Amino acid sequence: MAAFVLVLGRARGQDTPAPPQVTAQQDHQRMMDLLHITSLRPGADGNHPQAPNAANYDEAKANPYPKLPDPLVLKNGKKVKSAKVWWSKRRPEIVEDFDREVYGRVPNVTPKVVWEVTGTTQEKNGDVPVVTKKIVGHVDNSAYPAITVNIELTLTTPANASGPVPVIMEFGFGNRPAGPGRPMPPQPAASGPTWQQQVLAKGWGYAILIPTSVQADNGAGLTQGIIGLVNKGQPRQPDDWGALRAWAWGASRALDYFETDKAVDAKQVGIEGLSRYGKAAIVAMAYDQRFAIGFIGSSGEGGVKLHRRNYGEIVENVAGSAEYHWMAGNFIKYAGPLNWNDLPVDSHELVALCAPRPVFISAGAFKGDAWVDAKGMFLAAVGAGPVYKLLGKKDLGTTEMPPIETALIDGDVAFRQHSGGHTTGPNWPTFLEFAGRYLKAPAIIPTQ
Ligand code: GCU
Repeated sequence: MAAFVLVLGRARGQDTPAPPQVTAQQDHQRMMDLLHITSLRPGADGNHPQAPNAANYDEAKANPYPKLPDPLVLKNGKKVKSAKVWWSKRRPEIVEDFDREVYGRVPNVTPKVVWEVTGTTQEKNGDVPVVTKKIVGHVDNSAYPAITVNIELTLTTPANASGPVPVIMEFGFGNRPAGPGRPMPPQPAASGPTWQQQVLAKGWGYAILIPTSVQADNGAGLTQGIIGLVNKGQPRQPDDWGALRAWAWGASRALDYFETDKAVDAKQVGIEGLSRYGKAAIVAMAYDQRFAIGFIGSSGEGGVKLHRRNYGEIVENVAGSAEYHWMAGNFIKYAGPLNWNDLPVDSHELVALCAPRPVFISAGAFKGDAWVDAKGMFLAAVGAGPVYKLLGKKDLGTTEMPPIETALIDGDVAFRQHSGGHTTGPNWPTFLEFAGRYLKAPAIIPTQ
């Protein structure tokens, strides 16, 4: 058993002990010990088709647990028949389950963030004149000065807008190595307007938030970043928040800033992300009802994919030491001794937490993006339908997985599988067509 090494040092001249230095493996083992778990089932191997634990890509074997928890049945067995009971009773039950078992709880009190515009540039993106602001969110660390968190954000808005504009905010990757578990498929060569240019063409703005400036993307960082700051450098309890909720918290703080910036219509802010940041985007959208719309790219396991599906990445991968930091420690239990079917919730209920707000679920092709289980995400979108309908909105309109490149965008939950790889790229035009039903730009002041 790996010992938990607590290094009590003095942090950078401050009178507070420095956060302990541990590896992800040590912290993962510590969490297993805390949960009295002695062994975990291995994750699916996406790289070796002959391996005993090779990832399953056979639809016939994909549904060991076809019965999903019913989002419209209360814990006491009663059916939810009104919006009132959804909001007052059932939704809080689902939130509590996701908090405790899946993503972890955001502390009741989190430190204040003071936003500072550190630079403003007038430039052109394509042929659109824009204003770009570099903005830093300084997180109050007076309670534990050994940890500093500065949230990095950029905001670009059309210079000639006649009023506040809708903004699409992306969780940006910056430069990061390929994810664990499988090689990253090659990205298609960029052609045509970038997503930012497509957004500007609608008269909207865009923002990019750097999630790793809020919380590191690894288990070793859990005693640092915003999670470590709130815990004063101590390791997590099993229901403490993981990185996905920390990143989503950062997005909510960015939205606080937008509420103070006259260039932005904060009631019309969308959130977008790919892969691990697609997971963060659905979490942000589900938990913060101020987000007007979500574009959830290839979020896979831990995101929109049903946990109960055996296809591509599975619960065991996310519960392993390379990815558990995204989740609550408690999530590890479902990779042994418990199983997927023991989860009190599944991802269709995460999508349902977004209701009645519009959400677009995006996936790539089976070839190149199979790991994320497009069908498992489609089924989650289907499963959220009854909640959208209860709230007077439209579901996907079908329960049959559509052929690739079929846009299901007539309802308020939308889905499209594009024919590219692990990217949101080819789905931007469809997302923007869908989003155009909800977000409205002010007029552009014509230039002389
Ligand atoms: C890995 C991981 C996925 C994740 C992806 C990414 O492939 O298994 O869950 O979404 O990395 O973020 O790129």
